[in-house]
Amino acid sequence: MPAFIETQFPIARLSAESYKERKAVSGQTLTGLGKWWGRKPLVLVRAAIVGMLMPASNDPKRDREVFLKIMTMDDDGAWARCKPPVQRKLGRTGFDALPYAERIAECERPENVSGPTEQSWADINAHLGTTATTLPELIDQLGQRAFGHRPRVGDSFCGGGSIPFEAARIGCDAYGSDLNPVAGLLTWASLNLLGCGPEVQAEVMRVQAEALAAADQQVTEWGIEHNARGERADAYLYCVEVKPEGCDYYIPLAPSWTIADKFNVVAQWHRDADSDRLRPDVTVVSQAEYEKYKAKKGATMVDSRVVDPFNPARTWSVEALRGPEGLRRWSGDDVVPRPGDVFQERLYCIRWVDADGKRRYAAPDADDLAREARVLALLQERFEGWQREGFIPSLAIPEGGDKTEEPIRTRGWTYWHHLFTPRQLLLLGYISERLQAGSGNRVAAAFGLITVSRAANWNSKLCRWLQPQGGGIGGGVETFYNQALNPLLNYSVRPLTSMRTALPSLGQSELLEPQTVVALQDARDVSTRCDVWITDPPYADAVNYHELADFFLAWYDKLLNRTFPEWTPDARAELAVRGDGDDFRRSMVDIYRNLARHMPDNGLQMVMFTHQNPAVWADLGMILWAAGLKATAAWTISTETAIGGMKKGNYVSGTVCMVLRKRISDEPGFLDEVYPLVEDEVKRQIASMQVLDESGEPNFNDADYQLAAYAAALKVLTQYGSIDGRDVEHEVFAKREKGQVSDFQAVIERALGIACNVLIPKGLDSVWRELTLVERYYLRALDIESRGERRNGMYEELARGFGVTDIKPLLKSDKANGARMYTPSGLAGANLAPVGSTGEMSPPTKRGRGSSGALHPFASSSLRHLLFAIRETAAADNSPDLGRQYLRDTFGQAYWGLRERFVALLEWFTELGNAADMPEWAEDAEAARILAGRLRNDHA
Ligand SMILES: C[S@@+](CC[C@H](N)C(=O)[O-])C[C@H]1O[C@@H](n2cnc3c(N)ncnc32)[C@H](O)[C@@H]1O
Repeated sequence: MPAFIETQFPIARLSAESYKERKAVSGQTLTGLGKWWGRKPLVLVRAAIVGMLMPASNDPKRDREVFLKIMTMDDDGAWARCKPPVQRKLGRTGFDALPYAERIAECERPENVSGPTEQSWADINAHLGTTATTLPELIDQLGQRAFGHRPRVGDSFCGGGSIPFEAARIGCDAYGSDLNPVAGLLTWASLNLLGCGPEVQAEVMRVQAEALAAADQQVTEWGIEHNARGERADAYLYCVEVKPEGCDYYIPLAPSWTIADKFNVVAQWHRDADSDRLRPDVTVVSQAEYEKYKAKKGATMVDSRVVDPFNPARTWSVEALRGPEGLRRWSGDDVVPRPGDVFQERLYCIRWVDADGKRRYAAPDADDLAREARVLALLQERFEGWQREGFIPSLAIPEGGDKTEEPIRTRGWTYWHHLFTPRQLLLLGYISERLQAGSGNRVAAAFGLITVSRAANWNSKLCRWLQPQGGGIGGGVETFYNQALNPLLNYSVRPLTSMRTALPSLGQSELLEPQTVVALQDARDVSTRCDVWITDPPYADAVNYHELADFFLAWYDKLLNRTFPEWTPDARAELAVRGDGDDFRRSMVDIYRNLARHMPDNGLQMVMFTHQNPAVWADLGMILWAAGLKATAAWTISTETAIGGMKKGNYVSGTVCMVLRKRISDEPGFLDEVYPLVEDEVKRQIASMQVLDESGEPNFNDADYQLAAYAAALKVLTQYGSIDGRDVEHEVFAKREKGQVSDFQAVIERALGIACNVLIPKGLDSVWRELTLVERYYLRALDIESRGERRNGMYEELARGFGVTDIKPLLKSDKANGARMYTPSGLAGANLAPVGSTGEMSPPTKRGRGSSGALHPFASSSLRHLLFAIRETAAADNSPDLGRQYLRDTFGQAYWGLRERFVALLEWFTELGNAADMPEWAEDAEAARILAGRLRNDHA
């Protein structure tokens, strides 16, 4: 019996929910614990698990209703999640009238409500033959039925832990493993800190609070954050400074010296006769003056060149400052630059807060500088001991990484602690020591590690200063605001008071009942059996997990082992799956073969992948096939969709969820038998999606249909162990010339062609068969444009489906996210059409030719002549006679046979004028309408 997800999946609603969850940023359940990249939305994980455990019946409509009820994503469920004031404002009818994405904007997320109502449970149980009153009960009953026990869900690439966490939360036993210890700890923390219940949580929060209180007392005693006016610092701003050749003073570097947009605060630099260090002045300027600073007045770093603040004509290249040999590499005991180093570092602004909470910005005075010196001395006293104990990092930054090389090359920082100022190390080291001392058990010790590493993310020299804006007070941005390690010219440092907001929070406090296991393991070595595997493997252009995570690992290093003696605190980068070449494929085949071995025959897998290009999916499909799996469905969830953007389709990227089962028998297949099966399957798949699309809100866009075509082909192919006597694994690794595809891939690609022929733009059914491939391409491309598709890749993919090799002459714009087709008038301008209105065809110019120099197939198509007639009509102020005459002259007697087709096409173009977001079609659409009228009434 197929699972629900193998027959359908509510893509539009789920995309809206996933997006809503992502948009919550720090309000997401797991992000509060710490940084991981590419976390999967919990609602998607929940839907995947429910969809895999719920069997499909022969009533797809009812299946869908019941599935949505379980997810609280049905109309009643969404209404129940709607916040009371909004309920009162909109009323039920008004609420239901809104598109789903807008409806849920003011709703709680499904994870934050208690679940389906009593009535919904009655409906769910009636349909599924269950007796559940909670989600875990339902999961248990479905698992018992399918596997004879509570279902066990595993993820061998668990990263931040979304999959095992959500699995456990809805009642599955959960297994999570990852190669990386930082990921392991985050996953462990999600399960054991969010799932440990309120009492244990209160205990770990107490340990954290005590450590902070102790730090507060200590910092006060040291006197390093308070001044004589009774104020306390809440932000420090530092910058780099250099003394280029020929300059007899150090130049502090920044691309702009604005400090607080909201209050017109800037830093100005002055020269004192007796010093080669400039003196900062932090001051409030007039609005007019501030505007000049915003426009880079006084900027000392412009276009990668150092600019003399007193003579902007004098500049030096930064790269040249580093010298031919590169910078001096800092040694392990360096915590600040040495006097001769090219890049010096200095404090230039402090933000103070008084007892009433009033803030002011000031340049450091002599006392402040003395406090800086005291901080350095205090750190130096503790440095060795703390490194030995592991309270501050002592590891070197690995060389040769894509991301980790940046700090080494641009600053000479060779150890992780070089990414922190003495003030940051002193504070973080102190807190780390206190947290470990106060932790009586594993949960508290793990929380200590999480606390320090999260604080490190928010308090390193890689933290940009975010100016106070709107209602915000400003502050440091996290180190990993992007997926890189880029040293900054000026940065912010948090004293203790502003560290509180950088600490992890424990949003949830439920006691998770299911059994959970977290392991640190290469996915090839997983030896735990799971009924369902859900994985989200790293891919090609994705994140350099092992490099970035080393930033955190440097803080765990020696401590991790005390809490988790079974874990090696090493990223084992050499085992990390990456790239997209043969090595990558080999590891992936090995890993998925291992997972297939560790699931029952009726088990299920889902592989999630975020990639724009459906062709990449064909490749992944081959890998999974070679691993002994067969594909049963694939769905794209647009996790990055803007609210309302779904209709327009302008989302950044979708997460594709491929559902797979174990291939039990290795039957041989034959290509000539496979082709017709693929054709049937593609058509069947598309027809079933169209039915769902037409019966409610639009669910699928073009990319979904294309993907479905690939998936349908894979569904057929992957049932077989070999095709025409050729083994799949052999085919995956066979050496090929660039651009050459295997016969197997050719089948998959053919699916796209089949899909293209099935997906006829609405209103063109009667003429479609009579059109050439390039004409169909132009019309289908316009069709997707009219529905808001702007991704260039989709236009290229369509072209592949129609076998059109050169689309450039037809595209007005081929920008990555701004693709558009030419309008009739635009095409004329593009020289595809003849210049004379009634005369003969002029020789096509260069743009009309394909890249090979041959005439572009569109140039002589009848559609293109029709487009030209539209343009003629528009150019003649919508008098249709010239256009009609042009068609009659061009086609002679054939015109009468073509007339009806032209009218149908013109009517279709008329409709484009009504499409949102296609304003440039307005005039041509009107011309098409008028010309259609003229042609309809034409008589020989
Ligand atoms: C896309 S992430 C998973 C994100 C996760 N699903 C989440 O929601 O946070 C991929 C993970 O694969 C891990 N990884 C890479 N190579 C691995 C290997 N050979 N074995 C196990 N895990 C590996 C990386 O450390 C990374 O955490």
